[in-house]
Amino acid sequence: MNDDLDRIMAVMDAAFDPAWAEAWTRRQVGDSLALPSTHYALADARGGLPAPGAPAAGFTLTRHAPGEEELLLIAVRPEWRGRGVGRALLRRALDAARERGAERMFLEMRHNNPAEGLYRQMGFEPIGRRSSYYRLPDGRFLDAITFGCKL
Ligand SMILES: CC(C)(COP(=O)(O)OP(=O)(O)OC[C@H]1O[C@@H](n2cnc3c(N)ncnc32)[C@H](O)[C@@H]1OP(=O)(O)O)[C@@H](O)C(=O)NCCC(=O)NCCS
Repeated sequence: MNDDLDRIMAVMDAAFDPAWAEAWTRRQVGDSLALPSTHYALADARGGLPAPGAPAAGFTLTRHAPGEEELLLIAVRPEWRGRGVGRALLRRALDAARERGAERMFLEMRHNNPAEGLYRQMGFEPIGRRSSYYRLPDGRFLDAITFGCKL
């Protein structure tokens, strides 16, 4: 597990632009994974499972609640983007959520995140907006868009 936390954090540190302050700390991820409701998946550069001990190209973090699951984070290392790794990870997260009994998946995204293309492609639709939900390090505020997907 510690090994997988290392692999998640290596992707986290490479994937998130500090301008958005979206990356989680090692402690936040560790605390989250200590809860039985939190699940993660790792992918290699082809979207498959990475070999034991090999670095990951991407990961997802999800939280299950009765009947639903939330996509907390999805990230792919910049050098492996645009090759379907994110799509493969999201597909796996949707399948796993369905197997756990979820009927819907939700996620929250900062307004204008290019990841929206991936979410829409996989069947997510916008269902709500939280005004000025994110505060950026430069002091600006951004709306959050909630997306939902029927499983
Ligand atoms: C979002 C992210 C996970 C996508 O990973 P990826 O491996 O590049 O995604 P894929 O190659 O599977 O792309 C799948 C689809 O998503 C869309 N897409 C992905 N990244 C995109 C971008 N930067 N701009 C526009 N569309 C994009 C495209 O529609 C693409 O479909 P196509 O291959 O038919 O063109 C990756 O860009 C990332 O890690 N971003 C930084 C972290 C982040 O913002 N995560 C989301 C919030 S937690």
